[in-house]
Amino acid sequence: MAKARIAVVGAGLMGHGIAQVFALAGHDVTITDAVAKNLENVKSRIAENLRELGDDEQAAARVTPCADLAAAVRQADYVVEAVSENLPLKQKLFAEIERHVRSDTILASNTSVIPITSIMAGLNKRERALGTHWWNPPFLVPLVEVIATEWTSPQTVAWTMELHQAAGKKPANVKKDVPGFIGNRLQHALWREAISLVEHGICDAETVDAVIKASFGRRLAVLGPLENADLVGTDFTLAIHDTVLPAIDSRPGSSPYLQKLVADGKLGFKSSEGFRKWSVEEQATLRAKVFAHLKASRDR
Ligand SMILES: NC(=O)c1ccc[n+]([C@@H]2O[C@H](COP(=O)([O-])OP(=O)(O)OC[C@H]3O[C@@H](n4cnc5c(N)ncnc54)[C@H](O)[C@@H]3O)[C@@H](O)[C@H]2O)c1
Repeated sequence: MAKARIAVVGAGLMGHGIAQVFALAGHDVTITDAVAKNLENVKSRIAENLRELGDDEQAAARVTPCADLAAAVRQADYVVEAVSENLPLKQKLFAEIERHVRSDTILASNTSVIPITSIMAGLNKRERALGTHWWNPPFLVPLVEVIATEWTSPQTVAWTMELHQAAGKKPANVKKDVPGFIGNRLQHALWREAISLVEHGICDAETVDAVIKASFGRRLAVLGPLENADLVGTDFTLAIHDTVLPAIDSRPGSSPYLQKLVADGKLGFKSSEGFRKWSVEEQATLRAKVFAHLKASRDR
């Protein structure tokens, strides 16, 4: 992949990590943010990540913070937006970005769940716009979902897939712009049943997590569900589904149990209690465990 000029809009949790990945892959990256403080420390934040991961710290030198949006995107071949999850903000931003970029500059949004179609509908050249859904932390989780709208050109998808592949990511082409794309649909189908098991008194929250981590969670990184279905046999899978699926939660909408947690102010780590109670030490231990696990998986 030839060296490209990348602009990242939003220098928060995701934006700085995305900039880091592209800089490490050899691209020149400009990064912009509405909050000056986030730009002041972005290079040192990236350099610190690189050091912690044992990656080339010099890559941080390829990142240029730039407070002015127009100047940040003007030379770009590719712009990826990672600002706050807010539809009007993203729509306004892309309208502004389109005024400053070349007619063939590719425009991508890293939204978690907002349909790419709603974000990009107002653009003049919608064929060059798409979604790229990264996972946190961007420099450790390999997947990037590359989401096409009905307007996105095949060339835009192909170039974006290649850009991410060459940067060491595992891009997955999402051919229709459906809510939750692929990864979050699957993840939250599991979370719905996990919450339902607790709600119906079948087990407590700790047990749900323990069951997953000690069973199919162990296999998931190397054995996807459809590989698994083929491995055990589609006939066996059908027999299981005919018995189990009628019994699992299929209510539309969010769980009343989850709604009550939120109404009671049990917001998880940020209020020290969600499904379970969390001391500050337990929170730090869990975060460190996840980071170490993801780092070890990357190094293997
Ligand atoms: N956090 C995650 O795990 C995760 C995972 C995948 C996708 N996403 C998505 O990525 C996007 C960014 O999330 P995040 O977690 O990095 O949020 P964040 O709050 O850490 O960062 C957002 C940044 O956008 C900046 N910003 C806000 N308005 C702006 C504007 N008009 N111009 C320029 N910068 C502006 C903010 O100052 C902030 O630095 C969201 O759409 C989010 O849904 C997040």
